[in-house]
Amino acid sequence: MTPVVVAGSSHPGMALSIAQALGAKAYFPKVERFPDGETHIVVPPVKGMVVYVQTMHPYPNEMLVEMEFTVDLLKELGAEKIIAVVPYLAYTRQDTRHEEGEAIAIKAMLRQLECAGVGGVLSVDIHLHRLSLKDMSGLTSIKLYEVSAVDALAKEAGRYLKKPVVVGPDSESERWAKRAAELLDSHYDVLEKNRLSPTEIEIKPKTLDVKGRDVLIIDDIVSTGDTIMKVIRSLRAKGAGRIAAAFTHGVLSGEDAAAGLYRAGATHLISTNTINNEFSRVDVGPIIAAKLKEIL
Ligand code: R5P
Repeated sequence: MTPVVVAGSSHPGMALSIAQALGAKAYFPKVERFPDGETHIVVPPVKGMVVYVQTMHPYPNEMLVEMEFTVDLLKELGAEKIIAVVPYLAYTRQDTRHEEGEAIAIKAMLRQLECAGVGGVLSVDIHLHRLSLKDMSGLTSIKLYEVSAVDALAKEAGRYLKKPVVVGPDSESERWAKRAAELLDSHYDVLEKNRLSPTEIEIKPKTLDVKGRDVLIIDDIVSTGDTIMKVIRSLRAKGAGRIAAAFTHGVLSGEDAAAGLYRAGATHLISTNTINNEFSRVDVGPIIAAKLKEIL
């Protein structure tokens, strides 16, 4: 069934590229902010299957409210089923209760989306640390789908590096590090990362032999950049050659995240366009569209 594509305000270009790949019509609702900060939305009349595209950065809370209101409205006006394509799914890092009373925000968010009428969520390289995709799916009746940008990131990195050692900053990044190493016909390792507080981490370097070797660091999210900076410094100290950092979601919060990565010694920064930034060299639109063709 050919769906229609409806764009959230966060990434109209992604919605258009997905619509083109699907041969579907794209609609662009009117989204305004009232002077008091309220969101005001007007959607065109759409029926049948809808693919709604909204990434969750910047301003994840704003994007979430817009998504809920739009989906609720689309359902009310005739949409049968809605798959939300959320290239960067925020709140996945808040997946457990570290202290009494702490919100498991991913659960609350998925419940809200379910209530609004979302039937499925398709995202890219979901941050699955303590929860598996199955666990996360079990939180609500929403069906979760995931695609990965790792093949495209590794291919892009391979243009600049020679048979790089692939390094993941923590055990959860192993699935990407392993795949990238396979594609680059190299080997990989993952470091030991401990989070001391929401803003403080320590990375335990391994006895990796990277002397004179190119290195590709691969991770899902770069936010403050702190994790990758620490990895870069430890690789530099061991005499690594060129160091590229490839990541799916360039959140790059704080003014200094990208500059800090270069200062630490990165020679190349590569990200996808789940969040548009100056390092978005991999377009995930075709990867998402291919998955949609499978599931629709
Ligand atoms: C955490 O486990 C993730 O995979 C990333 O490593 C993390 O979110 C990066 O955050 P930051 O850039 O703030 O260190």
